[in-house]
Amino acid sequence: MTKDAYSLAGEAAAALRSAAALDTFDVALVMGSGWVPAADAIGETLTEIAFSDLPGFRAPAVAGHGGTIRVVRTPGGRTALIFLGRTHLYEGLGVDAVVHGVRTAAAAGVRTLVLTNAAGGLRPETQDVGDPVLISDHINLTGANPITGTTFIDLTEVYSRRLRDLVREIDPGIAEGVYVAFRGPTYETPAEIRMLRTLGGDMVGMSTVLEAIAAREAGLEVLGVSLVTNPGAGLSGEPLNHEEVLEVGRATAARMGVLLAKAVDRL
Ligand code: HPA
Repeated sequence: MTKDAYSLAGEAAAALRSAAALDTFDVALVMGSGWVPAADAIGETLTEIAFSDLPGFRAPAVAGHGGTIRVVRTPGGRTALIFLGRTHLYEGLGVDAVVHGVRTAAAAGVRTLVLTNAAGGLRPETQDVGDPVLISDHINLTGANPITGTTFIDLTEVYSRRLRDLVREIDPGIAEGVYVAFRGPTYETPAEIRMLRTLGGDMVGMSTVLEAIAAREAGLEVLGVSLVTNPGAGLSGEPLNHEEVLEVGRATAARMGVLLAKAVDRL
């Protein structure tokens, strides 16, 4: 819970400002599995800070998930914080650890947050592997929430309609969908995938929703983008494989980077 988590984020923000020699930042991006190369397209790196050098951060447990904050100047002159790697709930470090980066970004002055992830596609009829999908809403089946106590946050529009419209001006063909989050680290069973299709989900993954809730608590405007790396379990006849999820991310990172770079300068 707790006030401590928020003050730890305040300390991390102070350390980040001092390491970057900047007072504030315009936007933060959290890059999911395989998105590391996309970060290169966002702009020129001013500084790169290891998570381990900031209070409250832990190096990500999963190979391929990075572990630094890149401070970037975009071509349009914005300052962006790019989180290369994130903490997942399945690592067992608790909810506060999962949202620490978002709270740190908010405490450092960021007003806009871009959350990216790799996801299983629940609609293979209309989705192709490698497609980006704008998150229009979410279903939180993690059983967790970053907020404890009587803070009743409105979640009617977690993922900003304004920001989605803006991305569609850049890429008119991009689809929208509802992201469902499980705790993981197991992938879903085919029965769970059928359930999620019935419930109105379009993508499934193990991240993003807790960060989005923490961001709304902090008053940030949120853009969410999923990269469909595989059809959900049982939809393709093939078993799921973490290496393949990372590989699809790597293969399509350039396209994602170009889209995000254009978006960031207009947010
Ligand atoms: N399920 C959950 N998380 C994922 C998947 C999936 O199929 N693909 C990438 N992340």
